[in-house]
Amino acid sequence: MALINVSTFKDGSVQFHLSNGKISYIMMPFYGKLLNLYVGAPLPDNNYTYLIENTFRVLANLPFEDGPGSEERLPKIEQLRQEFPEYGRGDYRIPAITVLQENGSRISDFQYMDYVIYDGKKKLEGLPSTYITDDSNAQTLEITLVDEVTGLWAILSYTIFSDIPLIAKSVRIEHHGQHSVQLQRIYSATFDLPDMQYNMSEFMGAWARERYIYTQPLHFGIQAIGSTRGASSHFSNPTAIFARPDTTQTHGQVFGISFIYSGNFDIHAEVDTYEQTRIQVGINALNFSWHLNSGEIFQSPEALLGFSEEGYNGLSNIFHRTVREHIINPYWSNHRHPILINNWEATYYDFTEESLLQLAATSNAQGVELFVLDDGWFGARMEDNAGLGDWQTNLKRLPSGIASLARKIHNLDMKFGLWFEPEMVNKQSNLYRSHPDWVLHTPNRGQSVHRYQYVLNFARQDVVDEIFTQIAAIIRQTNLDYIKWDMNRFITEAFDNTRCAALQGEVQHRYILGVYNLYERLLEAFPHLLIEGCASGGGRFDMGMLAYSPQIWTSDNTDAIERLYIQWGTSYMYPLATQGAHVSTVPNHQTGRIVPLATRAVVAFFGTFGYELDLNALSDLELEQVRMQIQIYKEYESLIREGRYYRLISPFSHDRAAWMCVSQDCRHAIVAEVSLAVHPNKANSRLQLEGLLERSMYCIRKVNFDSGSSHRYLEYGIRSGAELMRIGIQDSSLVERDYQATLFVIDSLD
Ligand code: GLA
Repeated sequence: MALINVSTFKDGSVQFHLSNGKISYIMMPFYGKLLNLYVGAPLPDNNYTYLIENTFRVLANLPFEDGPGSEERLPKIEQLRQEFPEYGRGDYRIPAITVLQENGSRISDFQYMDYVIYDGKKKLEGLPSTYITDDSNAQTLEITLVDEVTGLWAILSYTIFSDIPLIAKSVRIEHHGQHSVQLQRIYSATFDLPDMQYNMSEFMGAWARERYIYTQPLHFGIQAIGSTRGASSHFSNPTAIFARPDTTQTHGQVFGISFIYSGNFDIHAEVDTYEQTRIQVGINALNFSWHLNSGEIFQSPEALLGFSEEGYNGLSNIFHRTVREHIINPYWSNHRHPILINNWEATYYDFTEESLLQLAATSNAQGVELFVLDDGWFGARMEDNAGLGDWQTNLKRLPSGIASLARKIHNLDMKFGLWFEPEMVNKQSNLYRSHPDWVLHTPNRGQSVHRYQYVLNFARQDVVDEIFTQIAAIIRQTNLDYIKWDMNRFITEAFDNTRCAALQGEVQHRYILGVYNLYERLLEAFPHLLIEGCASGGGRFDMGMLAYSPQIWTSDNTDAIERLYIQWGTSYMYPLATQGAHVSTVPNHQTGRIVPLATRAVVAFFGTFGYELDLNALSDLELEQVRMQIQIYKEYESLIREGRYYRLISPFSHDRAAWMCVSQDCRHAIVAEVSLAVHPNKANSRLQLEGLLERSMYCIRKVNFDSGSSHRYLEYGIRSGAELMRIGIQDSSLVERDYQATLFVIDSLD
């Protein structure tokens, strides 16, 4: 199937059209500059040269400002929609590249040279990126632009997938010249759109309040989100949505952007005076630079652009599919993640081997499959001020050793998992005592500390090697099944004492490459290992991390009501099955809120399900509920992992929240609603469903969470898909109390 069409017209001009019937992306070189003619809903092949901005707003007879060689009357470069805008040649918006040369100039002039097209997609060396399992499912176009003076080649890579409306874009800079240069900015993607009629949604937050959605119209000037913290962070997420103003969850044209990167990033939209919008995605240029000698290469991370005409839900399903089919390990796309118990909120640092085994045994008896021992099992860690960096058993706490505990857990027929924080060190550790210089710090300046910890210099290979050796030894000793990889502070004083002054701008990017390198080596050595990402909760929830850790701890906030907001926001760009979600105790440790056990389970079902409380403190009736919850989850898990997801009622604007998952064949669905505040004698309302077959008849059952009842499901009725979508479920059958949850399962009778 040809996904990329190249047309050559009579005047010799070339046009590239990437299309799979669901999206079109059209470009052409114009006087050497690669222009974007169109991106959006699919178009037939045609000559789209007329889409080049050709309004001669200025009477001056100057092409590209002072462009050499031609005095034809041409549109100005600053009015054109470009794929690789650059600094210093008349485009005064933010460039995609800035190159500092030996003579101090930052000007470049990348001219179109040629292109290649091939089936499939190459792996980006050292970086996470989308992958293809079958080369016939994607095509890649690589366009080479050349700056003659420096000898730099920019190879712009575009991959289109056969049946997803999404383009993956990255840039490789090859130095074919003689003199060293310094890249000071290199964006992975520029998307220039012809107008500014978009609302931009971003996912801002903080610890325990990750990825709340904020939406506002674009305005003149620059609107930016980003991170300079060394991690994508809780504060903003490397994703953004640009939607036409009338877009709803189900209707409207919408673009989604995601950056497959976990370090400092920048996503911005710049609206110019002609109301054109330039969207750019890349490594944050603040404190970034990269030295390139002749013969060297710099590979940018990958950015994704998805498009839907079916509103925000449509866009979410495009990104959910992309993550499932092209980013996370295919094994975990196709298998249920084990149901886990994590001891953190059950014990914090107050545990012994005996208490852990008791927790494991009780969990196991209810059907839990994986026991995760969180922080505190290693080094001299009695509390959070010591031990990071020493990944050997804390014999004071676990005198028989971690291998013995692992054996006992495995003997219960449970999987065993351990917490690590590989990138960090406490001063109270053997590692720090023997290598104080391994900490990121700037000479002659104080070292910032957070939670008593310092950041190891992962830009150094010897540091990564040491941590690999330590963790690999523990994995071997314990036959470890799972790792929770935490990262509990951001980077400060990013300085590498092994590198010269000119290379200091590379440290933060090299750091994250070191993190990726450790992930890759661990997974290569132990391919069956399941890694759950974490950074004080969801502080590094991005598609870069998902390439290695198919589930990420969504937030340290385990309150089910708070999770409605966090999981709602996270669901826009990330599949449910990637979002770690646990049933925790009440009153909740973060909020003090008391939420029914059934509601805590319903909310956690729509994520990677687990428990994080002392199950030994539950009553027999509660344990029976837990058993039932696990059975229900197992029954419907594949629907949640593989199905299409629909946000129905937003907790941000209502006193309830509702959502559903529908199987790909539309024959099965699971629907949840949770009440935030019940009002007596309230107005009527209905819950309209999505994604069903209009003409099919469905049997609707409500899950009965009451322990002690022999009826797990209560019949609600039989309705057509049309009724369920147009009329909906009557409010009277829904929630009746604050924080109460209702769960419906729906199966086609056809
Ligand atoms: C972070 C994590 C928690 C827990 C603690 C342990 O805060 O997000 O889940 O693992 O560290 O110290």
